[in-house]
Amino acid sequence: MTNPPIVRIDNIGKRFGTGPLVLDGINLAVDRGEFISFIGPSGCGKSTLLRLIAGLTDASTGSLVVDGMTPVNAREEMFFVFQDANLLPWRRVAANVELPLLLRGDTAYHREARVREMLQIVGLEAAAGKYPWQLSGGMKMRVSIARALSVAPAILLLDEPFGALDEMTRDQLNEDLLRIRQRDAFTAFFVTHSVTEAVFLSTRIVVLSANPGRIAGVIPVPFAYPRTAELRETPEFLKLLAETSHALRAVRH
Ligand SMILES: Nc1ncnc2c1ncn2[C@@H]1O[C@H](COP(=O)(O)OP(=O)(O)OP(=O)(O)O)[C@@H](O)[C@H]1O
Ligand SMILES: [Mg+2]
Repeated sequence: MTNPPIVRIDNIGKRFGTGPLVLDGINLAVDRGEFISFIGPSGCGKSTLLRLIAGLTDASTGSLVVDGMTPVNAREEMFFVFQDANLLPWRRVAANVELPLLLRGDTAYHREARVREMLQIVGLEAAAGKYPWQLSGGMKMRVSIARALSVAPAILLLDEPFGALDEMTRDQLNEDLLRIRQRDAFTAFFVTHSVTEAVFLSTRIVVLSANPGRIAGVIPVPFAYPRTAELRETPEFLKLLAETSHALRAVRH
C-alpha cells in the first residue's frame, strides 16, 4: 500500500476580496519527503500558494489537506522561512535558535542539546554567542534555518530564502540544506527565481504561469540524493537546467 500524500491540493482558486483571480485550478499531491520548488513570473501567486499551504490565508475555492488536516490545524507541523532572516537583534545566535523550542515548552536540558546540535549542523558553533548584527547575510540565513529546523517540522516552507545572497553563498546554503535533509527528513515547499537552485534542490519543479496563476507544467528532477556540488557541472544537470529555463521563458511571454 502506498502512503497518502502529505499535502494534497485540489482545484484551489484564490482571490483577495473582490479582486481578480490570483490562483486558478491548482492541483498537486506531494509525497512525504519531497522537495517541491515553485518558479514563475513575479506576481503569479507563488507566495500566496505557500501561505495557503501554511494556513496563513484561506482558499476561495477547492480544498487543501495537510497531513490529513486543515492547514490551520497542521500549523504545528510547519515552519515558514522568509528571505529576511528575521532574527531578534537582542538575542544572541543560540538564543534565536532556541526560541521556537522555548515557545513550545521544551525543557532547558533538551533546548540546550538541540541548539548545540542545530548550530553544529549549519556550521555555526563558533558564532553561538554572537549577536545578529555581528553576522554576514549568509550566516544570518543559516541561523534562520537552524531555528526553523530546531523543532524538526514535518514541512518546511521557504519563500525565496536565499534571494538576497550572492551566488557562492547561495550554492553553499543549498548544499547545507540538502545535507540537513539527509539527517532530519522534511518535506519542502520552496519558492525561488533561480532555476539552478530549483534543479539542484528539488524532486519536482512546479512552473506557474501568471494572471491567473496556473500550473503550466511539473518537471521531475531525476537526480539521486545525496547531491553534491559536482552535480551542477554534469551534462545531465545542465540539460535539465536548459529545459527548465525554457519552460520558464514560455510562461513569461
Ligand atoms: N494580501 C493581499 N491582498 C491583495 N492582493 C494580494 C495580496 N497578496 C498578494 N496579492 C496579489 O496576488 C498576486 C500574487 O502575489 P504573490 O505575492 O503571491 O506573487 P509571487 O508569485 O510571490 O510574486 P513575487 O515573485 O514578486 O514574489 C499579486 O497580484 C498580488 O498583488
Ligand atoms: Mg513572492
